[in-house]
Amino acid sequence: MDRKPIGIILNGVTGRMGYRQHLVRSLLAIRDAGGLPLRDGTLLWPEPVLVGRDDAKLKTIAERHGLTEWTTDLGEALARPDVEVYFDAQVTNAREKAIRAAVAAGKHVYTEKPTAGDLAGAVELARLADAAGVKHGVVQDKLFLPGLRKLDRLVKGGFFGRILSVRGEFGYWVFEGDWQPAQRPSWNYRTADGGGIVVDMFPHWHYVLEQIFGPVEAVTAHVATHIPRRWDEQGEPYEATADDAAYGIFELAGGIVAQINSSWAVRVYRDELVEFQVDGTAGSAVAGLRECKVQHRSTTPKPVWNPDLPATERFREQWQLVPDNEEFRNGFQEQWELFLRHVAEDTPYTWDLWAGARGVQLAELGALSAREGRRVAIPELAP
Ligand SMILES: NC(=O)c1ccc[n+]([C@@H]2O[C@H](COP(=O)([O-])OP(=O)(O)OC[C@H]3O[C@@H](n4cnc5c(N)ncnc54)[C@H](O)[C@@H]3O)[C@@H](O)[C@H]2O)c1
Repeated sequence: MDRKPIGIILNGVTGRMGYRQHLVRSLLAIRDAGGLPLRDGTLLWPEPVLVGRDDAKLKTIAERHGLTEWTTDLGEALARPDVEVYFDAQVTNAREKAIRAAVAAGKHVYTEKPTAGDLAGAVELARLADAAGVKHGVVQDKLFLPGLRKLDRLVKGGFFGRILSVRGEFGYWVFEGDWQPAQRPSWNYRTADGGGIVVDMFPHWHYVLEQIFGPVEAVTAHVATHIPRRWDEQGEPYEATADDAAYGIFELAGGIVAQINSSWAVRVYRDELVEFQVDGTAGSAVAGLRECKVQHRSTTPKPVWNPDLPATERFREQWQLVPDNEEFRNGFQEQWELFLRHVAEDTPYTWDLWAGARGVQLAELGALSAREGRRVAIPELAP
């Protein structure tokens, strides 16, 4: 079959997400599979152009994977006629300016979240991209997690009856960096660098809630910086200016109440790093990254509150595992394939810069709620 090359700029490819998930596990994985089969019988063949600030690091990555194209000059990469797509996995703060340049150069845009540092910037990017007639997409990887796919299947299949509430627990202990190195980059803990758990996680919660349960209509949040001093990649102490925990209540259409705790200062006593419990009149489910368990109303026990007696039931054992019933692939790769088909064949693609802007909106209004200590309604955001 004929190969159809498609030039793709990967900006921020030296970072955790840019390298591992987007280059190696997505674009190179597509090449390893022989290319992406298109309807016309050709195979779409990603040709990565690595972009970053450090020439030596880019060269190392390129050579490791047999790639030949890299540059520290974004303008030069954007001027290439063989490049059709600009992808951004830089630190959040650097994103908006780069995407504007890509749109101005007429490139299709695919990007990590959050799409911009604030709502005004995120909306402007969506408007500019629409006006330029380029295609645009935002990474919404959590939707592709096996656990959430099974949860979505339960919702679509009517398992829950009327859905009442969603309870999410996300987080793990991120080491401070003094006696053990931190497992997340230090910019995540500095507001000035675009850090903070609200900015990082609320965009995820937005698309998870919106896509699986319905539009988010209001937010009430409390945020904290539990660990005010951390140590960076060089072992230097710094002041953690950004929030490292957020306790949010999200009101969804139809009266569903979602409450999600997000924290980098919590120790895991759960089966997975994120878990959502959904309670409905006809049944409940607990979904994690991979697994999903259910309890139907017909098998629901009837506990009686009596603190004088030890628990007589093993509540966790009363749940049933939802089978996979399909093969789950890497979600980042799957979403890349959908976006590339959108570019190459004009197939529909809903997770665009407007969807990204709605995620940024939730983060911005969540932060406002926390600052002012009040519930904030979320106005509809339309193109
Ligand atoms: N979808 C997800 O699940 C997910 C998970 C983690 C992070 N992210 C997002 O991906 C983006 C990158 O996060 P990461 O964890 O890979 O970060 P990282 O620190 O590992 O990588 C950041 C990248 O940006 C580059 N960069 C450009 N300008 C920079 C500057 N001024 N300072 C520092 N680095 C600069 C770095 O060289 C590096 O390539 C963020 O926007 C983050 O919100 C998404």
